[in-house]
Amino acid sequence: MTASTIPGTILLIGASRGLGLGLAQRYLERGWRVIATVRTPSAALSALADGAGDRLRIETVDIDRPADVAGLADRLGGTALDVLFVVAGVAHDPGQPATSMSDEAFDQVMHTNALSPLRALERLQGLVPAGGTIAAMTSGLGSVAGNESGGWEAYRASKAALNMLLRSFAVRHAGRGCTVLAVDPGWVRTDMGGPKATLDVETSTAGMADMLEAHRGRGGVAFVDYADREVAW
Ligand SMILES: NC(=O)c1ccc[n+]([C@@H]2O[C@H](COP(=O)([O-])OP(=O)(O)OC[C@H]3O[C@@H](n4cnc5c(N)ncnc54)[C@H](OP(=O)(O)O)[C@@H]3O)[C@@H](O)[C@H]2O)c1
Repeated sequence: MTASTIPGTILLIGASRGLGLGLAQRYLERGWRVIATVRTPSAALSALADGAGDRLRIETVDIDRPADVAGLADRLGGTALDVLFVVAGVAHDPGQPATSMSDEAFDQVMHTNALSPLRALERLQGLVPAGGTIAAMTSGLGSVAGNESGGWEAYRASKAALNMLLRSFAVRHAGRGCTVLAVDPGWVRTDMGGPKATLDVETSTAGMADMLEAHRGRGGVAFVDYADREVAW
């Protein structure tokens, strides 16, 4: 594949396993240039380099460390991203009410799922030219209007906070001409989603890649799932 036939460049933050790894695989299959981050080396991600030539670049970033994100931004200076997507996130015991969590455990979920993704988007958004897409992996569980079953209290709160911060980000950068997306991947069989989840990684990630393509250049901000269905905020 020559540079002129590469359809785009995507930066995936959090691609060591699960949905980030699956997205890296889908985009490489589709001929894209993929910049994928890990906290520690991922054999599964490194294995995707076979056959991808120089289209896969692996970087090391912990999104809770602003210096890591700043270092990445510096190393990528001059790179134009068609899609910037923060995928990383953490969960907790879904049955534990937020009120019985330790301060440290609650703060960690909020920090990693809400503040760190927004800080990363803010630091890296300059790499996305007008017409590009800036996305964060949220969850259907982050829908305030959709919470009729309870559970996952701190996780839900962290993803709802992420959604709100994303909308504020979209307002602040409205003049940039980018599309801002809060993405719900569905319930997927990963370490986080567990074996009873309804979707496999390939179905969710192929759907998300199609959905992102459909939203390319549309502008504005939206909360959408892997099948491009709108989710209530
Ligand atoms: N699976 C589902 O059903 C589902 C549903 C809705 C939303 N989501 C969301 O989708 C995203 C991916 O979930 P998943 O199912 O793929 O989960 P997963 O299999 O548990 O993978 C989590 C990923 O996030 C990374 N990560 C966690 N903390 C990080 C940090 N501080 N800095 C950088 N990377 C970090 C992990 O890296 P390490 O390998 O280094 O830990 C790993 O790559 C999350 O945001 C999650 O909330 C998942």
